[in-house]
Amino acid sequence: MAGYLARVMKALVIHSFGGPETVAFDEIPVPQPGRGEVRVRVRAAALNPVDWKIRDGYLKDMFPHHFPVTLGWDCAGVIDAVGEGVEGFADGDAVLAYCRKDYVRDGSLAESIVLEPRHLAHKPEELSFEAAAALPLAGLTAWQALFDAGKLEKGETVLVHAAAGGVGHFAAQLAKSAGAVVLGTASVPNHGFLRSLGVDHPVDYRGDLVPNVRAAAPDGADLVFDCVGGEALERSPECLAADGRIVSIVDPGKIEELSGKGVRAEWVFVAPHAEQLAELAGRVVRGEMKVEVSSVRSWKDYAAAFKDLEAGHTRGKIVLRID
Ligand SMILES: NC(=O)c1ccc[n+]([C@@H]2O[C@H](COP(=O)([O-])OP(=O)(O)OC[C@H]3O[C@@H](n4cnc5c(N)ncnc54)[C@H](OP(=O)(O)O)[C@@H]3O)[C@@H](O)[C@H]2O)c1
Repeated sequence: MAGYLARVMKALVIHSFGGPETVAFDEIPVPQPGRGEVRVRVRAAALNPVDWKIRDGYLKDMFPHHFPVTLGWDCAGVIDAVGEGVEGFADGDAVLAYCRKDYVRDGSLAESIVLEPRHLAHKPEELSFEAAAALPLAGLTAWQALFDAGKLEKGETVLVHAAAGGVGHFAAQLAKSAGAVVLGTASVPNHGFLRSLGVDHPVDYRGDLVPNVRAAAPDGADLVFDCVGGEALERSPECLAADGRIVSIVDPGKIEELSGKGVRAEWVFVAPHAEQLAELAGRVVRGEMKVEVSSVRSWKDYAAAFKDLEAGHTRGKIVLRID
């Protein structure tokens, strides 16, 4: 394949933290897989809010960053080189991946990326590269927040803040299929979409949140899954049932503050998990969960895609074709 012969490849990189103008195409060395690693030729990559957060430097105290940083933490593609000692993945396998490493440098908005099997799952043939790329980060976040941290059980009531977004639309569906009663916040134009995901009670966050939640769930929610932060998280304790719990993926500081006041509250940062990723992909091909991709563009149009992402009103996911 061409990737073996080429010494450099195109990637969307930043050389310093900053605004949208800091992102640009650059040529960087084609990565070579070491022992226990594979190289994936990227076909599609989803955008996530973390991409602009990394660009802006919000995560600089959380992970070591090595410039130039290639952006992108989600991908689907085809393995084109396999290091020694890799089991279960071979040259030519189609895969999807949540690409986060322990440092920030090698992103998926590149022609190739080197990953370990812990990042990967095989891509079922029925799943397009675009849909597969939309699944890993947001799907794993929803899973780990609801089930690993939130311990959501059948018959419980869950409130998902931002249920129409990338993480929220997966969370709403996973919660419903786990047998929960699902409340989800979104603006009114998204309420039909929320119902199509199985949300029992769409709630308009632009109205008065707590009375709206209490109207649908008078005893409150057993679990609030916060994908918004700010006022949504601030008012979440008032939405809780007795002994209810909050899981946020947005604001660790506020979660610490709430915990200090005796609220059962936890912050989650999504981790790679090969088995969970394979399970999520399986659910999609079995028709148990859908992947909402609101736009697919060439990565040449990255500036417009980032602008849409940062507006904060994406329905489902934004995907870039790495063409
Ligand atoms: N800790 C972690 O591991 C982790 C993992 C993934 C994401 N995150 C973070 O979680 C947040 C959500 O990520 P995402 O990918 O789901 O974002 P996203 O797809 O960009 O979210 C867009 C959605 O947010 C909704 N929204 C905007 N303001 C809202 C509000 N005040 N109340 C309720 N809904 C609102 C919009 O609905 P309307 O159009 O109807 O307004 C839209 O559907 C981001 O801050 C992201 O960085 C953290």
